[in-house]
Amino acid sequence: MMQPVSMVPSCASSNSSLSSLLVLQRKRTKIVGNFDQVGKWNKEEVNLLKFLAPPLMAAVLALSPIFNPPVSVGQTIDVHKGATLFRRACIGCHDTGGNIIQPGATLFLKDLQRNGVDTEEEIYRVTYYGKGRMPGFGENCTPRGQCTFGPRLREDEIKLLAEFVKSQADQGWPTIKIEGD
Ligand code: HEC
Repeated sequence: MMQPVSMVPSCASSNSSLSSLLVLQRKRTKIVGNFDQVGKWNKEEVNLLKFLAPPLMAAVLALSPIFNPPVSVGQTIDVHKGATLFRRACIGCHDTGGNIIQPGATLFLKDLQRNGVDTEEEIYRVTYYGKGRMPGFGENCTPRGQCTFGPRLREDEIKLLAEFVKSQADQGWPTIKIEGD
């Protein structure tokens, strides 16, 4: 599949690009789990790919982690987004998974289970429509008095938050480091 460089004179530098890509890939394997870094590497890899001539592309694509991303990367990125949303909309009352207004309704598994809110669907519903003294954040949350006066959240944001809260609860609310902390 790889053709001799002489046949594609325009990519005389491709060999060095290819080897630096391999270096990138090796480095990247070490830093899986640090999503910000991974994001940067991805961009560099994409830029690199643009410089590579098509005959080498297939070989590079097969090697590139972009097309075989480790499962943990996807999950890490979602956790990052979820944590950011959580910090924006929920942390005021639920810092580190607690509940400053109603101590029996924390986001820890034992409370979620006792209150019947231990599935993503139920967490979604409570976040969307609110419950008791918790305001709803959904765009179509009603009645008004039960809904936040602040900015509403999109459905995909609430879904991500539900996934985030559920996975944090399952793990006992480990600390998540967000860049800028
Ligand atoms: C103004 C304070 C406040 C904010 C902001 C808030 N909550 Fe709540 N939350 C509460 C209160 C109070 C309850 C208990 C409601 C009840 O059971 O009557 C609660 C309950 C919950 C529960 C159920 C917990 C249990 O054990 O029964 C979940 C899940 C939840 N909140 C998620 C969220 C999410 C996600 C956000 C951010 C989008 C958020 N909350 C923002 C006050 C708040």
